[in-house]
Amino acid sequence: MDLNNNTILITGGTSGIGLEFTKQLLALGNTVIITGRNQEKLDETKKLLPKIYTFQSDVSDPKAITELYKKVITQFPNLNMLINNAGEMRKINLNNLNIGLEDITREIDINLSGPIRMVQQFLPHLKTQKTSAIINVTSGLALVPFPISPIYGATKSGLRSYTKSLRVQLKNTSIKIFELVAPAVKTPLNDKFTDDVDNKTFMNPDKLVSITLKGIAKNQLEISPGSVKAIKILSRLAPAFLLKQISKPVDKLLKS
Ligand SMILES: NC(=O)c1ccc[n+]([C@@H]2O[C@H](COP(=O)([O-])OP(=O)(O)OC[C@H]3O[C@@H](n4cnc5c(N)ncnc54)[C@H](OP(=O)(O)O)[C@@H]3O)[C@@H](O)[C@H]2O)c1
Repeated sequence: MDLNNNTILITGGTSGIGLEFTKQLLALGNTVIITGRNQEKLDETKKLLPKIYTFQSDVSDPKAITELYKKVITQFPNLNMLINNAGEMRKINLNNLNIGLEDITREIDINLSGPIRMVQQFLPHLKTQKTSAIINVTSGLALVPFPISPIYGATKSGLRSYTKSLRVQLKNTSIKIFELVAPAVKTPLNDKFTDDVDNKTFMNPDKLVSITLKGIAKNQLEISPGSVKAIKILSRLAPAFLLKQISKPVDKLLKS
């Protein structure tokens, strides 16, 4: 996939991995459009990177997706790439019986329903483009449960499954379906987890995105940088051991 002169929509482009995609894709000469919920963060990002275009839009709201589609397609009829990046990860104690029924599935609305609905909404347009691509950002936590963040892991394995099905169903189209199976990365997403995991080994977002863009340029449909390679092997050879290691934050939580 040629990574110059595309028109690219990135959900959650104001922070972490999305912001890094924005910087690097802009530097390669693409038109970059980003979304996020927080208008101040969008304004700050626009100040930092004046050539980008910003739209306030909540990916968990189907009406907001339809509104976004109408505005983006009118203003950018050449849109040919969608990066489903926006996401949230929460620490949830399932023993806490006060969690509301809407609140418990919030990450499903953002991390799983969000990308599925974005694809559904933008697919007819992407099919009209000569070459186009969808990049879904999943996680090494799609390969093994992360019990301290039980809904997050479920959303990422769900998104991975959906992405594989989408690729099969679109095999006769000009749309390439990429999956970034991201390892742990130094971004604000992990701020709530500093007591639970050692972030010294986390990858920097600039390195992650640089590896990912090289992979996309080579049409590598599944990109699994850094520690994800080890997770893939361990999840096959020693799944019980891996789950035990990754469950340590819950053991600590249950003792406190
Ligand atoms: N960091 C990691 O270790 C890691 C590892 C594997 C996978 N990932 C995945 O990588 C993606 C990016 O994560 P990150 O670490 O870069 O997180 P981050 O720094 O917290 O950034 C998240 C971005 O998503 C936006 N966002 C969140 N909820 C949204 C919503 N409902 N609608 C629209 N935008 C929304 C945020 O802006 P607003 O808050 O203003 O909406 C922000 O721009 C996520 O899908 C995450 O699951 C991250």
